[in-house]
Amino acid sequence: MADYFVHESAYVDEGAEIGKGTKIWHFSHVMGKARLGQHCILGQNVFVANQVTVGNFCKIQNNVSLYEGIILEDYVFCGPSMVFTNVKTPRCEFPRNTSDDYFTTLVKRGASIGANATIVCGITLHEGAFVAAGAVVTKNVPAYAIVAGVPAKIIGWMSAYGDVLVFNTKGYATDSQGVMYRKTNDDCVQKLDSAR
Ligand SMILES: CC(C)(COP(=O)(O)OP(=O)(O)OC[C@H]1O[C@@H](n2cnc3c(N)ncnc32)[C@H](O)[C@@H]1OP(=O)(O)O)[C@@H](O)C(=O)NCCC(=O)NCCS
Repeated sequence: MADYFVHESAYVDEGAEIGKGTKIWHFSHVMGKARLGQHCILGQNVFVANQVTVGNFCKIQNNVSLYEGIILEDYVFCGPSMVFTNVKTPRCEFPRNTSDDYFTTLVKRGASIGANATIVCGITLHEGAFVAAGAVVTKNVPAYAIVAGVPAKIIGWMSAYGDVLVFNTKGYATDSQGVMYRKTNDDCVQKLDSAR
């Protein structure tokens, strides 16, 4: 018996690798060359294309499509109806629809993407990055940065736990869990505590 759960209305194509404890809910579709880690949750109407890799403990909310070229590391949160893209200049008359045409988008460990945000392809969301609801992300997002708006800009910083960071005059901030962060310049924040 499979050690993951697939709702009876979902399709998981033959060959797909699904990690232990993962749950795939109503009307979702996972293609045969996709790889999902352990203990992930795919909500309703989620699509996972061939060659997509999803790490462990990821949460993909309703109506999200992971197209070829998307890589999610562990603990990535994709909010409802957020959109990934994988072709930069799509044209119907001159299709760009082979693996060579697809850009890679990498979402690193612990990053969150808010509801209805759009991630233009070919970028990296670094560890713990936070994309606000409705943002359109066109550039790489530094670790722990909060980006919002169209195009998305850095509006603040958030700890791995999810606290907005307030830095003192020396550039240090401590979140509610006692984890310390240091701001080294306008677009770089480092987590100082090695504990996750
Ligand atoms: C980005 C976010 C974390 C900021 O939360 P916060 O730190 O409590 O921020 P505030 O509500 O105090 O807002 C701070 C400023 O950012 C602006 N702002 C907040 N969210 C924004 C968004 N999504 N887009 C643009 N601007 C936003 C506010 O208008 C405010 O601006 P002001 O200072 O000019 O008034 C939050 O608004 C957000 O978007 N969360 C995502 C929620 C989501 O999508 N969940 C998914 C599943 S439930």
